[in-house]
Order: sequence, then C-alpha cells, then structure tokens
Amino acid sequence: MEDRKERAFQDKIDAELKIEPKDWMPEKYRRHLIRQISQHAHSEIIGMQPEGNWITRAPSLRAKMVLIAKVQDEAGHGLYLYSATETLGITRNELITQLQTGKAKYSNIFNYPTLTWADVGAIGWLVDGAAIVNQQSLRRTSYGPYSRAMIRICKEESFHHRQGYEIMSKMALGTTEQQEMAQDALDRWWWPSLMMFGPHDSDSAHTSNAMQWKIKRETNDDLRQVFVDRAVKQAELIGLTIPDSELKWNPKNKNYDFGKIDWNEFWEVVNGNGFCNKERINNHVKAHEEGKWVRDAAIAYTEKNKNGARA
Ligand code: 3HC
Repeated sequence: MEDRKERAFQDKIDAELKIEPKDWMPEKYRRHLIRQISQHAHSEIIGMQPEGNWITRAPSLRAKMVLIAKVQDEAGHGLYLYSATETLGITRNELITQLQTGKAKYSNIFNYPTLTWADVGAIGWLVDGAAIVNQQSLRRTSYGPYSRAMIRICKEESFHHRQGYEIMSKMALGTTEQQEMAQDALDRWWWPSLMMFGPHDSDSAHTSNAMQWKIKRETNDDLRQVFVDRAVKQAELIGLTIPDSELKWNPKNKNYDFGKIDWNEFWEVVNGNGFCNKERINNHVKAHEEGKWVRDAAIAYTEKNKNGARA
C-alpha cells in the first residue's frame, strides 16, 4: 500500500504537479521540506540584523528609507516562509525554539559583520544576488506553498539587488577612499557568498533526494556557477576586482573557472564559530522575549473574538 502511494506521489512529481498541504506525501519528503523551508525562513529573519545595524547610520535620508524598506521586506519573507513551513504540521514556537537552541541552521552569510556602509551594498549586490539565483530556481519547487512564496519573494529580491548594486556603483565610481571601501567589502563578502549555495554536489547530503522530489531544480554547483558568471561581469562594469587569482574565462564551457572555496571556514561558521553567531542568536532571543507582550495581546484578542464576545 505504502509503495503504491509512494509511486503515485513520485508520478505526480514527475508530471510537474504541485504537492499541496492536504496531499499524501512520504514522511521523509515532509521532513526534508520542514528542514529546508524553516532554515530559509530563519535566514531571512537573522539576515535583518547585519543590515539593520546600518539603518541609524545610513549616509542620507534616501539611503535610510531604502534600507528600512529592504529590511522590512526580509521580515515579510521570513513570515511567508514560516507560514509555508507550518502547513507541514509544525508550530511557529517549535521553529523558533529550533533556531534559538541551535538545532536549526540559518545561512552562513549572516554571521559576518557589517563593518562599513559598503558592506550594505555588498550584501544587496552579492548576498541578495546569490539569493535571487537560488530563489528563481526554487519558484519551480514541487511543494505548492513554497513555490508560491518564492514567486512573491523573487519580485522583491530584484529591488534588494538593485539597491545594493547602486550603493556599490556609487562608491566604486566615487572618491579614492570610497573605491577602497567598496573593494574591501567585495574582498570580504565574495567567498562567503559563494558558500551560500552549500557544499559541492558531491558533498551534499540532501541534493540527490531534493532533485528526485524536485524540491531543488538545479544543484548547488550549477546555481553557484550562474551566480559567479553574473557577478564577475557586474564587478568589471564598476571597476572592482574579484578577489580570486584563479578566476578565468573558460571558452570551452562558456563560464568562469574559479578558485577553491575554503570549506573549513564554511563549516566553522555553520557550526557556530563565525564572527557573529552568538550575537545574532542573543539578539534574536532578546527581541523575541521583548515581543512576548505583543504575541500575548494578539492571542488574547483572537481568543476573545473567537468566543464571540464583543472586543
Ligand atoms: N549556510 C548554512 N548551512 C548550510 C548552507 C549555508 N549556506 N548550505 C548548506 N548548509 C547545510 C544544509 O542545511 C545541510 O545541513 P542540515 O542537514 O543540518 O540542514 C548541510 O549543510 C548539507 O548541505 P546540502 O547542500 O546537502 O543541503 P540542502 O540540500 O538543504 O542545500 C541550500 C542547501 C542550497 C541552502 C538549500 O537548503 C536551499 O536552497 N535553501 C533555500 C534557500 C536558503 O535557505 N537561502 C538562505 C539565504 S536567504 C537569503 O539570502 C535572504 C535574502 O533576502 C538576503
């Protein structure tokens, strides 16, 4: 019976039909989705911290308004993705506990510090640029709520990318000091941005299942290559140098060969030993505790209304 159900499930996936919350799905598919979508949501929420750090110090009112809008968008992305995860039968409280206790991961990239205003540009340009490559692919993911969230999120990501590239362009084409600041930011954010796509396919624990179930539509290495090929041209356009002496156009493959990624650094950061891991989680716990009264009030209001009593 179980085999017949699994066969029918895989046939649906192979026929490019979306799996919806009420559909039968193998437990391992459900668990895979909870893991990936919740970690995606955690990344969006934690990702608000590095950029939020510069809202009070933005160099102009316009820059401040644009950055506030972007950081607010990330909160919304997190909410869409938590809602998509909850359709799989896990509560928001469980998800938040998994994040705060370190049981769940979030993207490596958000454990790096934002030292100058150029870092805000590098994040929009490179981090959101990498996220766009990954999320454009995820619009075709097999799980309905995740796919629909991605379609919505991708529309906002392109604004984020443009915001970052505008900051980098202005600085790269600005004074010598601004150019040096922009190059320094690129030097610090380039390699961690490549790590965002995850380990090489040969070292990826989940890619084979993810591809069979069409949760992923392209592999980590394929998406990383798309990102490199795009970002190299964008850097050249504004006169910045990619910090990789092995970067070289490969006329045969029609893409860029690039140097080795430091996977020790990646796993050190992912396993909690990055520059900002502790600070990010401590800030999240503090904000969550300070926001308890809002959640309590919202629950009380809903309870009261549910009982039909006049608010
Ligand atoms: N940071 C932290 N952990 C990572 C990681 C990264 N960049 N890449 C991989 N890992 C972890 C995986 O979670 C997995 O650990 P787990 O079993 O404990 O979950 C392990 O390393 C093995 O990696 P795999 O490649 O086998 O794992 P996946 O198949 O899940 O692929 C992924 C990793 C490509 C990140 C995939 O999960 C994915 O596409 N996730 C959705 C996109 C996402 O999460 N993006 C994060 C950034 S969000 C963002 O940038 C917001 C933007 O607005 C700024």
